[in-house]
Amino acid sequence: MAVSDHQLLEAWKQVLKLSKLEKGQTVTILTSASTHPQTLAMAQIAVQSMGAILNRLDLPPVNAEKALSRDPLAYLGTTPLTGNPAAIAMLKASDLVLDLMTLLFSPEQIDILKSGTKILLAVEPPEVLVRTVPTEADRARVQAHSAFLGKGKQMSVLSEAGTDITFALGEFPVISEYAFVDEPGRWDHWPSGFCFTFPNEGGSNGTIVIDKGDILLPQKCYTSDKIVLTVENGFATKIEGGVDAELLREYMASFDDPEGYAISHIGWGLQPRCHWSTMMLYDREQSIAMDARAYEGNFLFSLGPNNEAGGNRTTACHIDIPLRNCTVKVDGKEVVRNGKVLDEAVK
Ligand SMILES: [Fe+2]
Repeated sequence: MAVSDHQLLEAWKQVLKLSKLEKGQTVTILTSASTHPQTLAMAQIAVQSMGAILNRLDLPPVNAEKALSRDPLAYLGTTPLTGNPAAIAMLKASDLVLDLMTLLFSPEQIDILKSGTKILLAVEPPEVLVRTVPTEADRARVQAHSAFLGKGKQMSVLSEAGTDITFALGEFPVISEYAFVDEPGRWDHWPSGFCFTFPNEGGSNGTIVIDKGDILLPQKCYTSDKIVLTVENGFATKIEGGVDAELLREYMASFDDPEGYAISHIGWGLQPRCHWSTMMLYDREQSIAMDARAYEGNFLFSLGPNNEAGGNRTTACHIDIPLRNCTVKVDGKEVVRNGKVLDEAVK
């Protein structure tokens, strides 16, 4: 369903207000070939309506010759900012960057954030943005769960499908995503609503079973059969199952990078306005499937880089895998039980 300009404009205003945009601050909207015109148009009006100085920086897309799909998360590391100090300087000189292009996981993004610039990524279709416009309550809930996760030394995840794995914690910070940027140097993604961290280097061991109906990203497919990952000392060492496992193995092998098999971020979804079933309603090129990453009660784990949290691993291969019906425990205390979030655990 299309959204009206008015609805999207109001959504942008809410996000900018929550992001504490002030009169006279400088906002740069970063765009590229796939930026949605309505999202851009309403972002520009919202920024100006709040008395901020508006810039646009439009950069050509890169990576087409290497990426295997049009999904902006399918190939990470190099961006239109790579080797582009003029563009980096413009973004560093901005108070807020609205990233309608997708800079995620790039060293340039980390560098820009260190200067104090805030970055908010927003590339989902307008109707998804409107449905998932964030609230202060989203922030409070995500931060409560993040604080709980941040105290943990071990996360364990179990499921009836056969997942049984432990992750040692403490080496990397916890990251809260609540879809607005209210602190200098903060990055966030609209839509979102989840908390995560990264396991200690070498500290993941066990079995993860991706059950029938779970989701692989950026493939944007529901699996039709179980995929069993054997995880040893931080890396997926076996990917077994039927044709879904074979497809995943072949996709990952195409990167020819052993670092792509490392366990990356681990956490759980907290956004009730996102849904497991939404992805099937979209063509693959319409969305990056943030619903799948953020729906309430998922256990979201991933394979690939850990530089987002200060680690050294930068690989172009990144797979996000939200699982249903898992029980997640931190230091033995359940916070998600069979896919249901237990808010009382974090109070
Ligand atoms: Fe990810």
